[in-house]
Amino acid sequence: MKNVMVIYGTRPEAVKVAPLIRALRESDVLTPIVVSTGQHREMLDQVNRWFGIEPDHDLDVFKAGQSLTELSARILTDLPAVLQRYAPDAVVVQGDTTTVAMAAIACFYEQVPVVHLEAGLRSGDITSPFPEEANRRLAGQVTALHLAPTSAARDNLLRENFDPAAVVVTGNTVIDALQWTADQPVRFQDERIAASAASGRPMILLTTHRRENWGEPMLHIGAAVRRLAERFPDHVVVFPAHKNPTVREAIIPLIGDLPNVIVCEPLDYPEFVHAQRLSRIVLTDSGGVQEEAPSFGRPVLVLRDNTERPEAVTAGTVKLIGTDADRIVAEVSQLIEDPATYERMSQAVNPYGDGHASHRCVAAIAALLGVGERVAEFEVSAG
Ligand code: UD1
Ligand code: UDP
Repeated sequence: MKNVMVIYGTRPEAVKVAPLIRALRESDVLTPIVVSTGQHREMLDQVNRWFGIEPDHDLDVFKAGQSLTELSARILTDLPAVLQRYAPDAVVVQGDTTTVAMAAIACFYEQVPVVHLEAGLRSGDITSPFPEEANRRLAGQVTALHLAPTSAARDNLLRENFDPAAVVVTGNTVIDALQWTADQPVRFQDERIAASAASGRPMILLTTHRRENWGEPMLHIGAAVRRLAERFPDHVVVFPAHKNPTVREAIIPLIGDLPNVIVCEPLDYPEFVHAQRLSRIVLTDSGGVQEEAPSFGRPVLVLRDNTERPEAVTAGTVKLIGTDADRIVAEVSQLIEDPATYERMSQAVNPYGDGHASHRCVAAIAALLGVGERVAEFEVSAG
């Protein structure tokens, strides 16, 4: 048996490593060791609970409002002892957060092979998303095995001259998690959302947290949502507010008093999945939501100027609209008022995965460690 440590720290990482941890538990040749940095707290624990995952070790680096440098320093300081204690044969990190970049560097210094899950995403702009574009590039530099979710992600890595033998296209484990979750019955704990869902009123789901949207852009998003809620009183806007106080302080005062806007705590993952399925339109700057909502054929308007996830944009379900208030109001209004536009954007597409990514990842890690063979790579089916 080889020991594979999975290190993660935030909500989206927790969602995307969960299917891999479950697949590692089922493996005959690999055993997972689960380590949380605790970069997030409530939002991470919510996801762990849903997937039945309890970390073997928690660095608990969470501190409200800490700077990126402080957070980075704490992870780099605390992780080496954990690596030495468990002596893993390889470490998996996922995505592009500060946890990922710092864990990858710590592993490199401790000479433990790094496996990068969701490797190769690129916006092409080092400042946006900030700091994620830099984080994933940093992790890539010290990675032994790049698990690229799509062929476009693989191509990005090959353009940067990474060894093709070290890159495997697996599909994104976000779809494994989504499929497993979408099958389960869900009830909204927030009575306002439960009542709104039962009433059949059209729902607009809003999430925002990106650091490059802090300040003016987030005020524009809030102002636009206010105008939309007033213009379409039959619609309900649901805003599960990210725990980040910077986000809350910017947006909630702008929309929190409207009768058809529900501001709530972050939804438990299965409730959020259900909310995506129920909503008419998704407005977001999230990375993961851009991958999930297209599965349900929900038009996704992305509150950013670029994306490292071009596949669903090409498929037509996702549109980049930036953060200009007039543009947001115009784009959402068009979707509400023009059935042809809505129809065009609401075809269900699955360019990010087929629900079997974690098994491809386990096979590729086993091959890296000399105890198994890779399986066929993920390809988007034509249908
Ligand atoms: C982080 C990631 C970002 C990812 C996002 C997903 C970095 C630099 N950023 O952004 O890539 O897209 O998570 O949500 O890695 N907080 C809580 N409870 C929580 C989580 C956060 O109170 O469970 C508050 C704390 O005050 C914390 C702040 O939010 O300091 C910011 O959290 P942080 O992880 O630094 O950055 P995010 O903006 O959440
Ligand atoms: N999510 C959730 N509850 C919420 C909002 C989002 O469980 O209230 C999930 C969502 O389904 C997705 C992930 O969180 O899997 C996305 O996380 P986030 O938007 O915080 O980060 P990003 O993907 O932008 O890095």
